[in-house]
Formats: sequence, structure tokens, C-alpha cells
Amino acid sequence: MTEKQKQSWRPGKRDLLFFGVIATVVLVLVLGTSERKTKPVPNDEVHQSAASLAACMTCHGAGGVHPQPKGHIQAGQCFQCHLQPEGWTGGKK
Ligand code: HEC
Ligand code: HEC
Repeated sequence: MTEKQKQSWRPGKRDLLFFGVIATVVLVLVLGTSERKTKPVPNDEVHQSAASLAACMTCHGAGGVHPQPKGHIQAGQCFQCHLQPEGWTGGKK
């Protein structure tokens, strides 16, 4: 590349399009993170005192009063995804 070619570079239409695409992708990823919240655990007495996975599953297992939806993940760390209720006492022993 000669010195003259280097100096004559200016962003053309294709460069602007490229930057536009990058900006859009970044924007989508940033906005997307806020959509990944699940429903919080309700702030009621039942949920504030339920202390174990077994307790949760008596109501949220198949056949409970409020079963998890079909295809729900079989992980035990409920609060990792569902916000823990305020004033949760289940952790105290
Ligand atoms: C005694 C039964 C019972 C127990 C135990 C229980 N739940 Fe619930 N849960 C319910 C009922 C009924 C609802 C739906 C009504 C409501 O919003 O209060 C509910 C709602 C929820 C919701 C929100 C679902 C929605 O539709 O918005 C989440 C999340 C949840 N429970 C998680 C948990 C977790 C985690 C535990 C254990 C720490 C737990 N529950 C223990 C009965 C129970
Ligand atoms: C890896 C994340 C994750 C974990 C861990 C998890 N859940 Fe969920 N759960 C979800 C998602 C996603 C939904 C879909 C509905 C939503 O919250 O938007 C859902 C839905 C539910 C619903 C139904 C809500 C409704 O719409 O009525 C209940 C009840 C529930 N989960 C209970 C539990 C319990 C109890 C545990 C622990 C044994 C648990 N979940 C662990 C991600 C998770």
C-alpha cells in the first residue's frame, strides 16, 4: 500500500452499513438481557417459609396445586431463576 492510498481512505456506504449492523447486534444483545427474567416467587407466607426443594415440589410438582409448566427445567435451585421472596426465612435453621 502506498502512502497516497492510505490517506485517501474514507468510510464509504459499505463501511457505514457494516457499522450499522454491528451497532444493531450490540443493541439487540444488550436489550435482550433484560428479557430473561422469570416470574418472581410470590411474597406470601407460604413462599417465605418454604425451605426445601421437597417443600416447593409438593405444590409445584406434577399433580400439585400449581405444577411447573411442561418442559420446565428439572433443576433444584429455584431461586437462581425465580427471585426469592422478600423476608424469606427458609434459609435460617
Ligand atoms: C403450599 C403450596 C406451595 C408451596 C410449598 C410453594 N408454592 Fe409456589 N405457588 C403456590 C401457588 C398456589 C402459586 C400460585 C398462586 C400465587 O401466585 O400465590 C405459587 C406461585 C409460585 C410462583 C409464581 C408462579 C406464577 O404463576 O407467577 C413461583 C415462581 C413459585 N410459586 C415458586 C415456588 C418455590 C421456589 C417454592 C419453594 C421455595 C414454592 N413455590 C413453594 C403454591 C406453593
Ligand atoms: C434455569 C431457570 C429455572 C429454574 C432453576 C427454575 N425455574 Fe421455574 N420457570 C423458569 C422459566 C423460564 C419459567 C417460565 C415462566 C416464566 O417464569 O416466565 C418457569 C416457570 C415456573 C412456574 C410456572 C409459572 C407460571 O407461569 O405459572 C413455576 C410454578 C415454577 N417455574 C416453579 C419452579 C420451582 C418450584 C423451581 C425449583 C424446583 C424452579 N421453578 C426452578 C425457569 C426456572
